[in-house]
Amino acid sequence: MNYQEVLEQARGCIGDYCKACSICNGRACKNQMPGPGAKGVGDTAIRNYDKWQAIRVVMDTICENAVPDTSLELFGRTFRYPFFAGPVGAVTLHYGEKYNDLTYNNVLVKACHDNGIAAFTGDGTDPAVMEAATEAIAAEGGAGVPTVKPWNIQLIREKLELCKKAGSFAVAMDIDAAGLPFLKNMTPPAGSKTVEELARVAELAGVPFIVKGIMSVRGAQKAKEAGAAAIVVSNHGGRVLDQCPATAEVLADIAASLEGSGMKVLVDGGIRSGVDVFKALALGADAVLICRPFVPAVFGGGEEGVKLYIEKIGAELADTMAMCGAKDLASITRSMVC
Ligand SMILES: Cc1cc2nc3c(=O)[nH]c(=O)nc-3n(C[C@H](O)[C@H](O)[C@H](O)COP(=O)(O)O)c2cc1C
Repeated sequence: MNYQEVLEQARGCIGDYCKACSICNGRACKNQMPGPGAKGVGDTAIRNYDKWQAIRVVMDTICENAVPDTSLELFGRTFRYPFFAGPVGAVTLHYGEKYNDLTYNNVLVKACHDNGIAAFTGDGTDPAVMEAATEAIAAEGGAGVPTVKPWNIQLIREKLELCKKAGSFAVAMDIDAAGLPFLKNMTPPAGSKTVEELARVAELAGVPFIVKGIMSVRGAQKAKEAGAAAIVVSNHGGRVLDQCPATAEVLADIAASLEGSGMKVLVDGGIRSGVDVFKALALGADAVLICRPFVPAVFGGGEEGVKLYIEKIGAELADTMAMCGAKDLASITRSMVC
């Protein structure tokens, strides 16, 4: 099987909303929610993708002829590549019957670990989602990042206990989930947190705490104040607020504001190739999340589909590094993009 065949297979079983496009650029699903689209007019996911394409890479092959080292050190673990599979929750609602959150995470977490990266898992209103996700992570020796929704503190505490039991190497919270239409009016509701509330969560996590959904220097500074070990610059793929800037537009300033703090910066939103991963690192990210494309990879090819997708992105990254004169991730600099 090759990656194009994985996509073709996915088209036959992925439900009505996702078209398993060759390039997942937000156009075919636009504002389709339920489905993988974006909120409101639906152009934020499109903008995320387009803004990476507007950045170009600077070729320079007058350098040592070395095989690029794409490995990443993060929170005491070594990964083969600086990208992770991002959290996608409510899989059946958005992508049809073939998988649910439980079976999807079982495939994704294992396949990512087997192939040298890790998966972030989503959370749901059904408690079984976090239970199963943390079980899948436990089975892989903690190689996964559960992403807890910003519930009330009592429920967060219960979910963090599951994460602890799983031995996950980090825990994330999508702090922007307050904007999800599906979570409005839930009991207990998921919603915004103050710096003090977030600091309490960071403390309870007991492992590096990652705040996902930062779109400004101000937000990054609040996450730092709360004791987060990392942020994900993310607008949730346009699903929580219409008319956000693209993450590529805000990443450099946010990363610069955290320089020297020891905090790690991740970014997601429309990153679709190893060249895009390279661009994100050049703008100051330590690593990236790729989210929607892992869904057709699982639907169309199961564990093999995930492996093929990881290898495709990894090979593109290694090629870009070689062609731009970056022998390892630390050598990727701002001057390598324009
Ligand atoms: C159907 C769907 C479900 C998602 N569920 C979650 C979730 O449960 N938790 C979360 O933090 N982000 C969730 N996200 C957001 C993604 O993790 C990510 O931030 C966003 O899709 C942008 O990345 P991408 O352009 O690579 O998909 C979801 C996105 C989609 C499309």
